[in-house]
Amino acid sequence: MATSKANLVFLVIIFIASLKHFTVTSFKYEVGNTNGWVVPASNDSKVYNKWASDNRFKIGDTIYFKYQKDSVMLVTEDEYKQCNTTQPIFFGNNGNTEFSFDRSGSYYFISGVSGHCEKGQKMIVRVLVDDGTTSSGHSGSTSKHGLSAVVFVLQLVVLSIGSLLF
Ligand SMILES: *[C@@H]1O[C@H](CO)[C@@H](O)[C@H](O)[C@H]1NC(C)=O
Ligand SMILES: *[C@@H]1O[C@H](CO)[C@@H](O)[C@H](O)[C@H]1NC(C)=O
Repeated sequence: MATSKANLVFLVIIFIASLKHFTVTSFKYEVGNTNGWVVPASNDSKVYNKWASDNRFKIGDTIYFKYQKDSVMLVTEDEYKQCNTTQPIFFGNNGNTEFSFDRSGSYYFISGVSGHCEKGQKMIVRVLVDDGTTSSGHSGSTSKHGLSAVVFVLQLVVLSIGSLLF
């Protein structure tokens, strides 16, 4: 019985978490883990792209770069590949740079300090479309998905209550 009670608690938590998922609209992510935005260690040059691919960014989300004596630039894909810092689309160098995603697709960030991008201080962020509130063409199917997920979790909760009673 203890396990099914634990199950129930677990499912209720999932249920509440999933409700929250459908109502929370934006998140703020701090780039990197503890180090912030720095030149990565030579054995860890993919650290930022790994960090970015571990997160699911949506339109409206914000990323936050924390750094010292450095800078952050948004550039095009070609400029990213070449570490070309001559014409950034966006530039910040005050140590605390926030950037909000206003469209889906890829964003290319590099350090503006000479040599840093070449050492791996660069990152591609891919922003998803599946927010539901921002994509006009797909909003219908997106909210249907959301609803069926809620219904599915509700069924699990009911089943679990059943197993608790019998
Ligand atoms: C890189 O090297 C440092 C020190 O040599 C080590 O502590 C760290 O775990 C290494 N990181 C990776 C990703 O291998
Ligand atoms: C850097 O980018 C700018 C703007 O896109 C371009 O005009 C320039 O030729 C590029 N420089 C190099 C070395 O690729």
